[in-house]
Amino acid sequence: MNNENIIEVSGLSHSYDDLRAVDNISFRVKKGEIFSFLGPNGAGKSTAINVLITLLPLQKGEVFIAGHNLSSSPKYVRDSIGIVFQEITLDRDMTVRETLEFHGNLYSMGRDEIGSRIEELLGLVELSDKKDILTKNLSGGMKRRLEIARGLMTRPKVLFLDEPTIGLDPQTRRKTWDYLRMVNDEGTTIFLTTHYMDEADILSDWISIIDHGRIIASGTPEDLKNSLGEDIICLETADTELAKTAIINYDGIKSITESGEGLVIMTDRDGAQILPEIISGLNRDEITISSVNLKKPSMDDVFMHYTGKELRD
Ligand SMILES: Nc1ncnc2c1ncn2[C@@H]1O[C@H](COP(=O)(O)OP(=O)(O)OP(=O)(O)O)[C@@H](O)[C@H]1O
Ligand SMILES: [Mg+2]
Repeated sequence: MNNENIIEVSGLSHSYDDLRAVDNISFRVKKGEIFSFLGPNGAGKSTAINVLITLLPLQKGEVFIAGHNLSSSPKYVRDSIGIVFQEITLDRDMTVRETLEFHGNLYSMGRDEIGSRIEELLGLVELSDKKDILTKNLSGGMKRRLEIARGLMTRPKVLFLDEPTIGLDPQTRRKTWDYLRMVNDEGTTIFLTTHYMDEADILSDWISIIDHGRIIASGTPEDLKNSLGEDIICLETADTELAKTAIINYDGIKSITESGEGLVIMTDRDGAQILPEIISGLNRDEITISSVNLKKPSMDDVFMHYTGKELRD
């Protein structure tokens, strides 16, 4: 195992009866990184993460986390990680402080250490003034923050979070990203799953896009977006087929695909230069244009490009 890689996964598969939820995936996570699995509902994200955190048995493949072999040393793996589940898993009738104390005791932390770690973490997630509140009386965003604090109690090397911002309003999601960045800045490697394009884009050092149990693309957010080309021109016309034939051989066009709305044209030179040529060409051929839009590739476009479909949700 390379020291740089805190997670190494090769040939991981997991099936539920006949359903292959995770299909032969391999990837590495570098120490100190924020790594994301980005994929639609049912892609296999939770299944993969649940195998890594020892909640599901390892059926096939090899996994090393923080230098420990998952199949021979699951306990060492568990001791190296913190977990925040997709569903809220707080005991409704415990206070904020009791929640963290209970977790510390579960992991045999010393009394003093539990006390000081609680202070530190509640400060980090800004819940210091909620110490004696029952968790059932916290807002959704506060519950998430408490779960993040709980995941960090034991000072894990890697924090796993399954859909950390699901169900939160946009503002609270943004705030949660800030907390995760702070946690990461303290040296904790972060592995998260998400079906939010913006979340993966903004937070991650590295993204693997997963669909139907397979990794279909990987890279830094920048690399993934750049891999599509320079610009994207979205074009709606009276006749998609004719328009496509009319412009397909233009210089600087990398690819043309059809979407529900019309044509998606990827360019490999400045789209603002190509666009006037396209418009005058279509005018010449008397193909009516109903809308046109020029933009830089986004993570949505990356997903669309590699899967051929919009993120279903
Ligand atoms: N316990 C289970 N028994 C049978 N099938 C399951 C089980 N858990 C998940 N699946 C199936 O495995 C596939 C992958 O599910 P998984 O929960 O890993 O996806 P996901 O990417 O986490 O989706 P979401 O974004 O909805 O959380 C899906 O087809 C799902 O229906
Ligand atoms: Mg899931």
